Amino acid sequence: MAKSLLFLIFFLLAASNLVTSKAMPGGWAPIKNLTDQHVKELGAFAVSEHNKVAKDSLVFVQVVQGDQQVVAGMNYRLVLEAKDAKEVVAKYLAVVWEQPWTNSTRLTSFNPVSS
Ligand SMILES: *[C@@H]1O[C@H](CO)[C@@H](O)[C@H](O)[C@H]1NC(C)=O
Ligand SMILES: *[C@@H]1O[C@H](CO)[C@@H](O)[C@H](O)[C@H]1NC(C)=O
Repeated sequence: MAKSLLFLIFFLLAASNLVTSKAMPGGWAPIKNLTDQHVKELGAFAVSEHNKVAKDSLVFVQVVQGDQQVVAGMNYRLVLEAKDAKEVVAKYLAVVWEQPWTNSTRLTSFNPVSS
């Protein structure tokens, strides 16, 4: 009796540990569907915001890699392709923060990826 109770407590502790570590903020998880419409929108948003800030004229091509992180909203870390005025396609790492319940979307960073 006492033994099974102890086992139960042990089990519950282990289970709650598992749950909290899974839901812990700060962990990046891969985006499963990179061709998802919303992911594309975020990629295009990153390029257009970068163009505004840097007075650049890149054209969004596609997202080739991405991770997401739960914060107060969601952080997206996207590796995307964009072409410049000379039609040269290059890779960029963009971090976009989104808070749907306040309609907020912001470009946190945008940098070329050396490959
Ligand atoms: C990914 O998203 C696209 C566009 O919404 C959809 O057509 C496709 O079926 C999705 N693929 C998977 C594996 O969910
Ligand atoms: C967010 O944007 C949508 C569509 O533009 C609008 O209908 C909605 O009222 C907005 N919500 C807030 C909280 O601003």
